Amino acid sequence: MATLSGAVGGLVLRNPVMLAAGILGTTGSSLRRAARAGAGCVVTKSVGASPREGHPGPVVVQVEGGLINAMGLPNPSYKNFQEEIDLARQGGVPVVASIFGDGPEEFAEVASGLDADCFELNLSCPHAERYGSEIGCEPSNVEDITRAVKKSVDVPVWVKLTPNVADIVSLGKAAQRGGANAVVAINTLKAMAIDVETGRPILGNRFGGLSGPAIKPVAIRCVFDLSAALEVPVIGVGGISSWEDAAEMILAGAQGVQVGTALAGGYGIFGEITAGLERYLVRKGLTLMELRGAARKTP
Ligand code: SIN
Repeated sequence: MATLSGAVGGLVLRNPVMLAAGILGTTGSSLRRAARAGAGCVVTKSVGASPREGHPGPVVVQVEGGLINAMGLPNPSYKNFQEEIDLARQGGVPVVASIFGDGPEEFAEVASGLDADCFELNLSCPHAERYGSEIGCEPSNVEDITRAVKKSVDVPVWVKLTPNVADIVSLGKAAQRGGANAVVAINTLKAMAIDVETGRPILGNRFGGLSGPAIKPVAIRCVFDLSAALEVPVIGVGGISSWEDAAEMILAGAQGVQVGTALAGGYGIFGEITAGLERYLVRKGLTLMELRGAARKTP
């Protein structure tokens, strides 16, 4: 049996298949369920400094190849979230807190107010004014925010990057300069859908972020480029719904993968992906480390 366990971005994981931020990460019980279903670690929904209701509905629309969401970062504030992390920890795997803020001070405030095993900095949500990609598209912001959080906590810090830029590698390098333990690529692609009968945008916020199979080739390309350019690990996310998708992401250079939209099909996805990866490694006679980035090597 091939081993999937190992270190990823400062955490030791039983396998590299993680629950992505935002999906089923609102409550401790759903995070715990993902952990018990086989996730290597679980990432919470993003939490910020103050409670937010999020955008008016509809907040999700199904389109060809995926979903567009414009949730608008609804959350109860970090001040009301620690008990969800504590409950999630009963799942027996590391709990990564996804956090957002409007700059270095707010990010540091949120991080130092939570006890989590790792922080994932949401510098990439494409539909929240003053947050996410509005600040995370600028390398100097990414570097300053990463450094501020690193100074305020003593657990690993991951930075989730936006693909809605011309050069994602410059953002990855900024996160690395700021001291990130890993970068996570990619968040959703800015997108919209229009109802042809009403002639109006479907989402309450008009635009949102596209996730699901449609964005997988974009994510693969970003992971390929980032892992070639960075020393810190890259965690791949975007459209992974099978072990083949996970293997493709690892071949591109990912040290771990996150599963989001595919959770719509149920928690069994974690077991399916890890079992498929194990069989694939045995069939190929490779270790996970040998698989990683193999697509980048010249023949
Ligand atoms: C949300 O909670 O609004 C989505 C988060 C994201 O796109 O990063």
